[in-house]
Amino acid sequence: MNIQALLSEKVSQAMIAVGAPADCEAQVRQSAKVQFGDYQANGIMAVAKKLGQQPRQLAEQVLQHLDLNGIASKVEIAGPGFINIFLDRQWLSQQVDAAVSDERLGVARQPAQTIVIDYSAPNVAKEMHVGHVRSTIIGDASARTLEFLGHNVIRANHVGDWGTQFGMLIAFLEKQQNEQHGDIALADLENFYREAKKTYDEDEEFAVRARNYVVKLQGGDEYCLAMWKKLVDITMTQNQLVYNRLNVTLTRDDVMGESLYNAMLPGIVADLKAKGLAVESEGATVVFLDEYKNKEGEPMGVIIQKKDGGYLYTTTDIACAKYRYETLHADRVLYYIDSRQHQHLMQAWTIVRKAGYVPEAIPLEHHMFGMMLGKDGRPFKTRSGGTIKLSDLLDEAVERATKLVGEKNPDMPADELKALANTVGIGAVKYADLSKSRTTDYIFDWDNMLAFEGNTAPYMQYAYTRVLSVFRKAGIELTGVTGAVNITEDREAALAARLLQFEETILQVARDGMPHVMCAYLYDLAGLFSGFYEHCPILTAEDEQTRQSRLKLALLTAKTLKQGLDTLGIETVERM
Ligand code: ARG
Repeated sequence: MNIQALLSEKVSQAMIAVGAPADCEAQVRQSAKVQFGDYQANGIMAVAKKLGQQPRQLAEQVLQHLDLNGIASKVEIAGPGFINIFLDRQWLSQQVDAAVSDERLGVARQPAQTIVIDYSAPNVAKEMHVGHVRSTIIGDASARTLEFLGHNVIRANHVGDWGTQFGMLIAFLEKQQNEQHGDIALADLENFYREAKKTYDEDEEFAVRARNYVVKLQGGDEYCLAMWKKLVDITMTQNQLVYNRLNVTLTRDDVMGESLYNAMLPGIVADLKAKGLAVESEGATVVFLDEYKNKEGEPMGVIIQKKDGGYLYTTTDIACAKYRYETLHADRVLYYIDSRQHQHLMQAWTIVRKAGYVPEAIPLEHHMFGMMLGKDGRPFKTRSGGTIKLSDLLDEAVERATKLVGEKNPDMPADELKALANTVGIGAVKYADLSKSRTTDYIFDWDNMLAFEGNTAPYMQYAYTRVLSVFRKAGIELTGVTGAVNITEDREAALAARLLQFEETILQVARDGMPHVMCAYLYDLAGLFSGFYEHCPILTAEDEQTRQSRLKLALLTAKTLKQGLDTLGIETVERM
């Protein structure tokens, strides 16, 4: 159910009937205050201005043509020409009935688009670091949300699997294999990289071999390719464990690393030259962009091929955008990459558009996010200043959650407690990130994220179990609620209206890629449920009809919480 769309349609029809242009916007929004009703239409002022009329008079006329029979119980003009709409309780009751018996909770499938989502994108032979956590978690919530709406989502894990560092990495892997006579686990990728670099800097013979391997790898040498593949495999096997732990939907099949685009790069450089976009400059191939100025105020030069023939990160991203449109047939491409790469993407896409590789009608969207900071407001690091290993972070989350839920459930069997601690601990890390607007930096704080109060995973997971416990207490299965909804109380009406705004919320998340909007909605919903439960007795309702009606509201609340958390990738439990 999309109430906003329904009311927008009705109000704009009425506006058109009194002379507004056919493309006028009703601007129907959820009202900010109860006294303004459930929804408010704000579009009349702009139209009145255009038509040279008094807004209030125009609003009177619109009201005469506005047919909300059966939907609204009251419609009134407010302020300079707003229309306040109060939803009819009978209508709300029917909508709740319809939503609760629909497996999609009344959320319509959208006309399916192919949407490519670029997220996670760790680098080979390096530990996944906190910067990749946000991309992974927020990107995955976005993928789940769009998939729920019926889109064809292509998860693109743009792994950093190419570059000159691979000569050094291959040489070092070889050295380790020789010394250890066999396969190595690369359990500690960060150390592997660091030691490889150290050896490269200190050992000239090693460095020569490493440089030779880069050339051979680029030339397609079989041995080097096999070693390269080994590095990619080891890294992605390890990352896959992290994805699984995080309940992130990425799989090995989603890996579309930088190397995928290698074969396209020479053609792109030649094409950009032929189109007059790229020129030779001091031996390199450069695209000068008027849109960006360098320090001297001249058009900025973006290098796409170095003097030595090597290609750059930008060249790959140009090819990658082209590929996503041409080969994957994307209707929309979302990139979950930290905000420091914004200029890089804008430059690559400016070139992509100029070259006509991706038509303007296909949106390329940078869904950027800020940094993850420690409690002191500085970049999130270990005490000794090193990068925090994601697996260590998750271990700590589960450890802390074990203590937390153990205290609350002293009698819970050990297996159940273990599973619960995992759900709560991992959920807390994810939810903490998801619940904050992604555009700003975010402070990682254990105490906040594991609190049972406030907009946190434990609170939301607990809220869900509380609704379920109502059914347990009533001795009734979720499937055993039979009667019709009949809303009579204010708190019932408020809860029902909010429940029916689930679709509007999902659509907003889908449009902006901002999962915190869903978190805020679910948090609000849980609060409304508490108020309803307190003031509208369910188990001791005055009659059976009322009891059934309220159980149904509780049922839709449970289903909405679960489905909402599911679109975020947050798991729920039956009891905690
Ligand atoms: N591997 C890169 C990094 O760690 C992120 C890649 C993001 N995706 C892209 N298409 N550039 O910073």
